Amino acid sequence: MFRIIKKKRLNPSVTLMEFEAPYIAAKVKPGQFVIFRVDEQGERVPLTVNNADPVKGTITLIFQIVGRSTMKLDALEEGDSIADLAGPLGMATELPPDVKNICIIGGGVGCAIAYPQAKACFENGIHTDVIAGFRSRDIVILEEEFKQCCDELILCTDDGSYGKKGFVTDALKERIENGCHYDAVVAIGPVPMMKFVCLLTKQYNIPTIVSLNPIMVDGTGMCGGCRVTVGGTIRYACVEGPDFDGHQVDFDELMHRNGTFREREDACRMFTQGGNPHA
Ligand SMILES: Cc1cc2nc3c(=O)[nH]c(=O)nc-3n(C[C@H](O)[C@H](O)[C@H](O)COP(=O)(O)OP(=O)(O)OC[C@H]3O[C@@H](n4cnc5c(N)ncnc54)[C@H](O)[C@@H]3O)c2cc1C
Ligand code: FES
Repeated sequence: MFRIIKKKRLNPSVTLMEFEAPYIAAKVKPGQFVIFRVDEQGERVPLTVNNADPVKGTITLIFQIVGRSTMKLDALEEGDSIADLAGPLGMATELPPDVKNICIIGGGVGCAIAYPQAKACFENGIHTDVIAGFRSRDIVILEEEFKQCCDELILCTDDGSYGKKGFVTDALKERIENGCHYDAVVAIGPVPMMKFVCLLTKQYNIPTIVSLNPIMVDGTGMCGGCRVTVGGTIRYACVEGPDFDGHQVDFDELMHRNGTFREREDACRMFTQGGNPHA
């Protein structure tokens, strides 16, 4: 069993939880994820490790409440435990060699996954800019945390209610056109956001890493659920990713495959919703 030692609501649909998980905390690297089950009947759900404290033996996960399993997890409180936390899974992020200037881009809850990347780059002496995008001011997360681990934070909202008005791609394009030089870009967020960042960075020939979120089942390379096409080749995101060269990813196929169970997911959400005022 894995005990929750801290729970904090970051916005109406995003929750942070810190778990006692000493073995994972000792080994996990930026870019890696865990698979949790709330209870023995629960489905297996992947979440990226947002932070780890090897001394305390804890890991922090940040999740958006989107469906049945994330609602069940969110219903737990400090002191409660979950059945399983398996990990660390996947490959740690590997930057291209000799990166001196990087731009880390997070969209929505993707900022939770972008945070450890920014922190690792900044701590390793890489000049790190962060562009964090949200639909509106009320759902902004991790602003203070990002400020501590980057050279410049550009916060954008689609509706202009906070920070710069517009999409992360607008902010990135403006910076590049104004002379900012990036050796690499890391983009993590909704699939369409990652696709459009990659279309932009391709024009400027900037190597771009994305963290993919296909549907995962076993997380060990056995079931094929997380199959993605990268550079015309089939890759398994749970063991070969989740990070890939964004210029090679078939994003349209990923979007299509992620919709496979939408009807059943909607039905489950309707069934569970009664218990969650934020769903
Ligand atoms: C490597 C990886 C890391 C992730 N990290 C985070 C994170 O740090 N924070 C976060 O909020 N979300 C993260 N996700 C997405 C998260 O796994 C889904 O939101 C979660 O599975 C939803 O489950 P549900 O039962 O609550 O919702 P459901 O109603 O079952 O599904 C809602 C949506 O979540 C996705 N989803 C459902 N089941 C799975 C599954 N088994 N594997 C992957 N996606 C699924 C689908 O796109 C679906 O449309 C990550 C996904 C992957 C693959
Ligand atoms: S989740 Fe089964 S092969 Fe990747």
